[in-house]
Amino acid sequence: DPVRPAVHHPGSLLVDNIGELVTNSVGEGEGGPLGIRRDVALLVEDGLVAWIGPARDTPAADRRIDAEGAAVLPGFVDSHAHLVFAGDRAAEFAARMAGEPYTGGGIRTTVGATRAASDDELRANVRRLRAEAMRQGTTTIEIKSGYGLTVADEARSLRIAAEFSEDTTFLGAHVVPAEYAGRPDDYVGMVCGPMLAAAAPYARWIDVFCERGAFDVDHARAILACGQAVGLGVRVHANQLGPGPGVRLGVELGAASVDHCTHLSDADVDALAGSPTVATLLPGAEFSTRSSYPDARRLLAAGVTVALATDCNPGSSYTSSMPFCIALAVREMRMTPAEAVWAATAGGAAALRRDDVGVLRPGARADLMILDAPSYLHLAYRPGVPLIRQVLRNGVPQCR
Ligand code: NIG
Ligand code: FE
Repeated sequence: DPVRPAVHHPGSLLVDNIGELVTNSVGEGEGGPLGIRRDVALLVEDGLVAWIGPARDTPAADRRIDAEGAAVLPGFVDSHAHLVFAGDRAAEFAARMAGEPYTGGGIRTTVGATRAASDDELRANVRRLRAEAMRQGTTTIEIKSGYGLTVADEARSLRIAAEFSEDTTFLGAHVVPAEYAGRPDDYVGMVCGPMLAAAAPYARWIDVFCERGAFDVDHARAILACGQAVGLGVRVHANQLGPGPGVRLGVELGAASVDHCTHLSDADVDALAGSPTVATLLPGAEFSTRSSYPDARRLLAAGVTVALATDCNPGSSYTSSMPFCIALAVREMRMTPAEAVWAATAGGAAALRRDDVGVLRPGARADLMILDAPSYLHLAYRPGVPLIRQVLRNGVPQCR
């Protein structure tokens, strides 16, 4: 163990009496990649983890949180969420549950509502959803545009997203909007030109919905390359509704992540296995569209890094709950609870190419949750139960 800090740091916070600490630090403790340590305390200074060590060595601190023997985990890293929108599509959901298929066609309904909303309405909706996610343990959340689809509406979507997240993603290529129907080349030109120019200052990433009915592989490649040329990192919505070239395109362009991965060929899995690209699985979407889940075991067996995220959006997956996604991943995709919890924390961090979150080690951000349970296992074992007792973000306890 590192030597405990000798000097008492002003503003320090000690979380002690931790029964089970998930560190996600390779080589730490038990549980393989989860790096589980037992009966430890964790010291926070200046928003960062300063020290983790055995209870007997507990240093002095200004404040103390007694974890009462519960499990403590890194905050969830939700690497895929569409939070900037107005309205909802509850009626579309009801129709789907009565047998209608999901096609993505409803995206245009949300585009209409989003364009009609004020900045303050959009901002309030993002704030509400981020707070909802935080209460369920999410301390990092990626936020996409994609329901504006005009230069002004994409730029303001990202400007608002950037008020809430460091990981903002330009998804001007979500669908071809109605006013460009039949003219996809013109729309792609506009996305790569004035729309990208207006959006890029507020974006870290670029994404495209590469799917039949959205953007084909040539358009998708052109859009992602334009984004890369101005310094944006690449992510792709790929192979959600059917097989296609999206996953291999993402790998070819060095994407941080390809997301959905519901319909994969052997070539897709091989491409992912030989690459640093993360496969982000979004089981909330299969749940809410009543589709078959992705084959997580096949990806894990091939050595692909797997992340779990919510895909929170009003159409295909209106949940902000990472615990719900973990429960689905375990029950429906046969991930072990340990694999699912890793994918929802360290996996999400990998999908966002971040090493400061999704892990608890000295120097990492003090983003963590205290469960109302003795073990991370309970997140899958007790589905639907609010097990997140307290959340710290940058070392600051979040109000509930
Ligand atoms: O990730 N696939 C494309 N985009 C979203 C759905 C958007 C919507 O239906 O509004 C998704 O599932
Ligand atoms: Fe999505």
